[in-house]
Amino acid sequence: MSIIDESVLSLSEDEKQQFYLKYGRELVEEKAKEKGRKLTACVNTFGCQMNARDSEKLRGMLIEMGFQETESEEADLVLYNTCTIRENANTRVYGRLGYLHNLKKKNPDMFIALCGCMMQEKEVVEKIRKSFSFVDLVFGTHNLFCFPELFCTAFTSKRIVIDTEERNGLIVENLPNKRKFDFKSGINITYGCNNFCSYCIVPYVRGREKDREPEDIINEIKGMVADGVVEIMLLGQNVNSYGKTLKNPISFAELLRRVDEIEGLKRIRFMTPHPKDFTDELIEVIRDSKKVCHHVHLPLQSGSSKILEDMNRRYTKEKYLQLAAKIRKEIPDVALTTDIIVGFPGETEDDFLETVDVVRQVKYDSAFTFIYSKRTGTKAARMENQIPPEVSKDRFDRLLAEVQKYAREQCSKYEGREAEVLVESLNEQDPSLVTGRLDNNSVVHFPGCESMIGTIVKVRLNEAKGFYYLGEMVDQ
Ligand code: SAH
Ligand code: SF4
Ligand code: F3S
Repeated sequence: MSIIDESVLSLSEDEKQQFYLKYGRELVEEKAKEKGRKLTACVNTFGCQMNARDSEKLRGMLIEMGFQETESEEADLVLYNTCTIRENANTRVYGRLGYLHNLKKKNPDMFIALCGCMMQEKEVVEKIRKSFSFVDLVFGTHNLFCFPELFCTAFTSKRIVIDTEERNGLIVENLPNKRKFDFKSGINITYGCNNFCSYCIVPYVRGREKDREPEDIINEIKGMVADGVVEIMLLGQNVNSYGKTLKNPISFAELLRRVDEIEGLKRIRFMTPHPKDFTDELIEVIRDSKKVCHHVHLPLQSGSSKILEDMNRRYTKEKYLQLAAKIRKEIPDVALTTDIIVGFPGETEDDFLETVDVVRQVKYDSAFTFIYSKRTGTKAARMENQIPPEVSKDRFDRLLAEVQKYAREQCSKYEGREAEVLVESLNEQDPSLVTGRLDNNSVVHFPGCESMIGTIVKVRLNEAKGFYYLGEMVDQ
């Protein structure tokens, strides 16, 4: 088989990548013969659930091409799937590239590949070209499914291969993937984002919103369930705007209803909904379904209506509070979690106190708090009144203390009760314990063994320990 075989040109994108998977396998086998051992590959993932799911696809393709997976970066191939949501995500990758360079000096055959959101930034690619030319392959988020082709091209060339171009907005189905967990999985329902929150780089690096066909989603989940998956998480930057770009539009609530009907599936989660698109229909589906977990992640970002407008979030403090109250009323045992940014340009002490006020009113079960990070190309990066780091840091510390106070309170709510727990792993510190999650996402540790992983068991929540429970199994 030759890489420039003309017959490849007439294939569909799907078939073409299948062709390159086979060709890649030949290349890898040849190299393995030369070395007298299997080639190893290490995929390191940064960023969100979307990247984690992408990495499962990349791992699937690598395994199909004959690589053996390893956790160690002293491997024949190292692939970083990067994130660029905040500046420190980028700094980390540059730091680690220095370390990879040292490894490559010891093993000149080592293949280093970079992909993901950070690679969709022009300045980043320029910097890699100039300062990190030992990298073999750079690709982006739009052409992830071309990895077999790009790998073959880079593996057979002596020069760095860079390709971050979108291919006709295609969504390619049916590529291999290797799940991290046997019993749970993320599943993409939409790609990209149309919201352009003024601080956020995601719409620039992930492109416009593209929805997958409901049939494709349902069939993929059915396949996963047949394979032992009991919990799925529907993934998208704004899941509840799902369906608008389809030929036959359906709502996210309707999609949830259809997923709910899949036999054998036990738990359904989703990440991330946007407050502006949270309909009453959606609240009803969550309330009435036995499978949709009673956990809603409702990103606040700021409690000040003025800042929310500058952020282009398209809701006010009052609208948000009304929505949170409605969700709590309809689904009393719901866990509400959130994301908050402090130090957005122009944020005054009063604006910040509005955010603290929302935290006090909503009493989140947990919250991810971030210091605003300026992202090149976004609207907020061009705003005046950028906040001095020491002011942001002080607000961050005060907000965190507040958030933790309520999180502790919320997490003791179910002390003494019995609840169903999906066992996820052996406890990292104490192997006589297992660790699992309640429907509302709270973590529980209790005595158990490895064979329980992936099963749902009833546990008495004996003691709330701040951010988790200690419990014991009760007779089923
Ligand atoms: N689409 C999701 C997740 C986006 S990224 C959503 O809308 O919620 C996850 C979180 O990172 C965001 O919710 C936001 O709180 C934070 N974030 C995004 N851009 C940021 C920036 N420039 N600086 C600091 N935090 C940011
Ligand atoms: Fe970024 Fe806003 Fe889109 Fe979330 S909804 S990915 S914060 S632009
Ligand atoms: Fe990061 Fe990209 Fe996710 S920027 S947060 S990995 S969509």
